[in-house]
Amino acid sequence: MGSARTLAQVYRHFGEVDAAGTSPLYERVAVTLSESDEALRAIEAAPARKRHPTLILAALHDLALAGRAPALAAAYATGDGDAAAAAAIDTLLSMTDSVVAIAVRRQTRTSETGRCAVLYPAIAEAARRVGANAVGLIDVGYSAGLNLHVDRVAITYSNGQSLGDPSSPVRLSSSVAGDRPIPTLAMPEVIARVGIDRDPVDVTDADEARWLRACAWPDQPERIARLESEMALAAADPPLLLRGDAVDVLPDAFARLPAGALPVVTTTWALSRFPLERRLRFLHRLDEAATDRAVAWVSLEGVGVAPAIPTLGDRRASGHSIIGLAMFDSSALQAEAVGRCWSRGRFLAWLADS
Ligand SMILES: C[S@@+](CC[C@H](N)C(=O)[O-])C[C@H]1O[C@@H](n2cnc3c(N)ncnc32)[C@H](O)[C@@H]1O
Repeated sequence: MGSARTLAQVYRHFGEVDAAGTSPLYERVAVTLSESDEALRAIEAAPARKRHPTLILAALHDLALAGRAPALAAAYATGDGDAAAAAAIDTLLSMTDSVVAIAVRRQTRTSETGRCAVLYPAIAEAARRVGANAVGLIDVGYSAGLNLHVDRVAITYSNGQSLGDPSSPVRLSSSVAGDRPIPTLAMPEVIARVGIDRDPVDVTDADEARWLRACAWPDQPERIARLESEMALAAADPPLLLRGDAVDVLPDAFARLPAGALPVVTTTWALSRFPLERRLRFLHRLDEAATDRAVAWVSLEGVGVAPAIPTLGDRRASGHSIIGLAMFDSSALQAEAVGRCWSRGRFLAWLADS
């Protein structure tokens, strides 16, 4: 009973706080689930760490998109909150095993927000510092993200600056805080793209692409349209995906980059789940790779998460992230915080001289 009440509170909070204002459908569905003992019991069939509303609602959405929950699909299509709430409960009760199986197998995935808007200037800056005219990207904790297509998106900043490919179908914007401009240097040619993930998403696989769509909220058409254009971009030139633990796989990833390219490793909110010892070994791997050429690491991670990157005196878990730039060569490591960002890159403040 106690745990059901806790779960009820989690769903009510999600509906009334997280979804309210952005997704009337999810607000209605989550609050209705929070008030249904039967629905909460069905959700409790999933392991405790797999009961979060974002994951269960994505599992329900996945069934709707797969044609296995037609009433829910119809309610989502028409934006009818009452019908969606009733159909969500029906689906949960009649297909509990399927919902739980999806939740157990999957993790929620977020689509691009402003990651590339923050990565682009930092990667270009890394290349400038060593005079590189080509880069090879290695994205660690690749997920299904667009990080490896950072040069192929169109980015506009609130201060009027722009970067990337202006003709790209994927258009991102980011608000610049503070009065320091973003460096406008273009990134050199990207000649290799390698993604590393223990559990990567292959957007060319129909089931996996549907799961990415399922993670989007059904009444956010702009977000869904952006996801579609991101997936089309990623599917048009899929990067090399290496499956495995980053620390184990990194040497192989470096070995696959052509000799003339500056290796630039990127991590966006990927390291927080690594135990400290693995984060230090990750750093060591970058250092090892820099024996005969420079290596750069661009990180967007919570304050104090990326080893060696200064925290600027900011408190941990303070809600924003540090934009880290670390340059390794055979003699030294230079690690600095080149900026801060908020809300997965929707806002950024550039700090470094360039
Ligand atoms: C929180 S997600 C972040 C993903 C993405 N970079 C982003 O910006 O949203 C973390 C990703 O790292 C992967 N991951 C977690 N631990 C890992 C490890 N030790 N080695 C490789 N990938 C890992 C997970 O599978 C997941 O896709």
